Amino acid sequence: MATHAREYRWVRDGAVGAGRMRYGADYNPEQWSRDVWAEDMRLMREAGVNIVSLAIFSWALLEPRPGEFDFGWLDEVIDLLHENGIDVDLATATASPPAWLSQRHPEILPQTEDGTVLWPGARQHWRPTSPVFRTHALRLVRALAERYRDHPAIVAWHISNELGCHNLYDYSDDAAAAFRTWLRDRYGTLDALNEAWGTAFWSQHYTEWEQILPPRTAPTHRNPGQRLDFERFSSGAVRDHLRAEAAVLAELTPDIPFTTNFMVAQNVRDIDYPTWAGDVDFISNDHYLRPGELGRDDVSFWANLTGNIAEGRPWFLMEHAPSAVNWREVNPPKRPGELMRDALTHVGHGADAVCFFQWRQSRAGGERFHSGMVPHAGEHSRVFRDVAALGARLGELGAVTGSHRERARVALVFDYESWWVSGRDSHPSDALRYDDETLAWYRALLDLGVRADVVPVAASLDGYDIVVAPMLHVVPDALRTRLEHVVRSGRHLVTTAFSGIVDEHDRVWLGGYPGALREVLGVTVEEFVPLLADETARLASGAVATHWSERISHVADDVEVLDTYAAGDLAGMPAVTRRRVGAGSATYVSADTGRDGARAVLERLAGDIGALAGDPLAADGRLEVIVRVDAARRHVFVVNRTDDEVVVDDPELGALRVAPRGVETRSIPAQEPALAGAHGRMDA
Ligand code: GAL
Repeated sequence: MATHAREYRWVRDGAVGAGRMRYGADYNPEQWSRDVWAEDMRLMREAGVNIVSLAIFSWALLEPRPGEFDFGWLDEVIDLLHENGIDVDLATATASPPAWLSQRHPEILPQTEDGTVLWPGARQHWRPTSPVFRTHALRLVRALAERYRDHPAIVAWHISNELGCHNLYDYSDDAAAAFRTWLRDRYGTLDALNEAWGTAFWSQHYTEWEQILPPRTAPTHRNPGQRLDFERFSSGAVRDHLRAEAAVLAELTPDIPFTTNFMVAQNVRDIDYPTWAGDVDFISNDHYLRPGELGRDDVSFWANLTGNIAEGRPWFLMEHAPSAVNWREVNPPKRPGELMRDALTHVGHGADAVCFFQWRQSRAGGERFHSGMVPHAGEHSRVFRDVAALGARLGELGAVTGSHRERARVALVFDYESWWVSGRDSHPSDALRYDDETLAWYRALLDLGVRADVVPVAASLDGYDIVVAPMLHVVPDALRTRLEHVVRSGRHLVTTAFSGIVDEHDRVWLGGYPGALREVLGVTVEEFVPLLADETARLASGAVATHWSERISHVADDVEVLDTYAAGDLAGMPAVTRRRVGAGSATYVSADTGRDGARAVLERLAGDIGALAGDPLAADGRLEVIVRVDAARRHVFVVNRTDDEVVVDDPELGALRVAPRGVETRSIPAQEPALAGAHGRMDA
């Protein structure tokens, strides 16, 4: 997997880190009258806004009839922004097709797995594989690029919007045809496909390519290999659309960098973003807060992953919410301090731009109760005051721009395919969740003040002293070899229940679990013992498992049992094990012991793994310390994870008083020369 096929380029105002944090929002002026535009300019200046994403959902206004373009209003808005010193990340406007297109060509409408047509009336009602849609979309992109290529306000292109958010899975005939082509390229022969998908099961054997369909609604469990390939295909189909728009832009506006906003954390989880990284000039991401107690750490987790998808370079936070969203069951506002804290957490993890959805809260439409930087209440509001305060704070952080993430000594591996596959039906338990499990281990590391890089599974693991890979369910041969290398080279691996179970086709590794990792861990699991909702499994250490336990029937001679099951049918059997291999080791946690159990295991390992010694500043878990570096300085972000003030004294940073949910930043001289280029590239 080659990444950054394109040179990494920041918005058009010089190199990455031109000394100015970017601050802004999605701006949808077409929803408002011109007197509101004038007020918008005044308020944007007041808030320190210096960039907006424009025209994301404007296709119907820009091309009111086929091939007939009306750019007048957009010219006016762009000029107005420019006069006010605000740059534009101009959308290609293809996210939501106009009514005339679906009326004339209903064959662009996607279909769900049961054949339901996704009609117009919302947004993103197009098939990623539709040649008709593609033709019309590219015509619009071309027209926009030709019109605005010389406008000095345009500093970046915003391709489509959250590609695949609603239309990732299309089961139409267009999709079926494209899926077959994709499969032919991948497998070459039907024999190879039949073997990979295990079609001997339930009489699923194929004798002609035309027999193969997307995994449409079926009487019961659909073929897991077919589903995994359909997910890969769908992720790729949407990426093909990205590439098609990008090709037009690269041809017509080679000097204007382009991006598309990823959703690394969102409910649409079946896009393998690390494989898209090389298709854009710079990485941008959208993140929406998870309400509740784990929300803060969740922001840190996904910002951390985004920074590592960007291979340590600065990235663009394209969207997050100023306050409440409108699409969960209950949508509480952000609590005091959270707007600033979350934004600066993203900056700490490498964002050089902080943008919101959206500038002005809509009056009408499906998002009228989604917060905006200017809320329904207007400028005299808590949200707008916080927005302006953030703008002022970002204005002081110009020196941070262009700096890279400082590499941690601990890697926490994140694998999109393990997320997809482990979350499927027909498994021993639906309760074990990959995202919960990885976040629990991340939180345990934060609790101990240990900085970790959340890295895509394909990233180089060289240079990390310890690799934590929770629930790494899909382990093809090459990954097994890489993980074994970590241990054999004197470093440390920690992995947990339901890891190593299947290969790249979702076929189970035989001989006992954890399959591909059995040898390196030195344990054999005969049976999974998932727990019912009201059951727990207590370990001798006092840790309590929910959801999952395992019967480890054999441990190799050189394996140390760190913890055992304390009660029930597994009483006395190993629960947590560690095998030492030279100076390295491989630790296995067979039960879902959550954040506290993870922390206990890490604390135990910290005795002889130096990288697990927490930063003294953060070792009691109240603060997260994040570090960015450039040639001369280390930029340290100290984030308060609690609702209480934290006062600390650090030999390097001096006395710090960190407000409840607050963030303090300090720039100090770097001890070593620049780390530029030192960040681990992804495997080719
Ligand atoms: C994003 C989307 C925005 C807006 C936002 C609301 O998914 O890109 O257009 O809908 O969510 O949370």
